[in-house]
Amino acid sequence: MSRRRAPICESKGTGENMPRIAIYPGSFDPVTNGHLDIVERGLKIFDKIIVAILHNPCKKALFSIQERKEMLADCLKQFPNVEIDTFDGLLVDYAAKRQAQGILRGLRALSDFDYEFQMALMNRRMNREIQTVFLMTGLRWIFTSSSIIKEAAQFGGDINGMVPPMVGRKLKEKFRHRP
Ligand code: COA
Repeated sequence: MSRRRAPICESKGTGENMPRIAIYPGSFDPVTNGHLDIVERGLKIFDKIIVAILHNPCKKALFSIQERKEMLADCLKQFPNVEIDTFDGLLVDYAAKRQAQGILRGLRALSDFDYEFQMALMNRRMNREIQTVFLMTGLRWIFTSSSIIKEAAQFGGDINGMVPPMVGRKLKEKFRHRP
């Protein structure tokens, strides 16, 4: 008698007709061209991406959550299948609540790997249904981060081409009113 073997990877909620949804979490303080590059790459494999800004009291932010949300919405307005949202608490709980199958993360340099690996394994331990997907950031953005761009902007450095023009203007405005 032959017994049918169960597929190794039979996960709930990933039927053929279900849209493939990924959460792209982060601080986005502010969004950079590196982040946008990951969203665009992600859209090639997911039907919908929810860019989720973390309410993180441990990280001192330059922009309020509302400002970050508005900047992201403006930069991504050409993609009807991208939603901007905010979350707090555990990422896997938020992902499950939004019926997402994936967590999207960008890798820039080798130095990102340890932290991302640890976080992905911890998230998998907490919810095995949700897969973390890593995408390589475009080479042009490999050395960028929100902090380094903020630092350059604060001292009048040239950040053209590293952030969308609207974000560049917002950064200038912020630092004009600061000592
Ligand atoms: N291009 C440019 N910069 C990038 C980038 C890219 N593609 N990808 C990441 N970065 C930069 C960000 O700008 C940020 O820079 P900054 O530190 O100067 O602000 C830095 O890399 C960190 O990235 P970010 O994506 O904002 O991560 P984070 O470490 O602030 O937050 C979360 C990561 C939100 C995924 C994580 O903290 C989380 O899930 N928290 C919820 C609690 C939880 O579930 N924890 C995990 C398990 S215990």
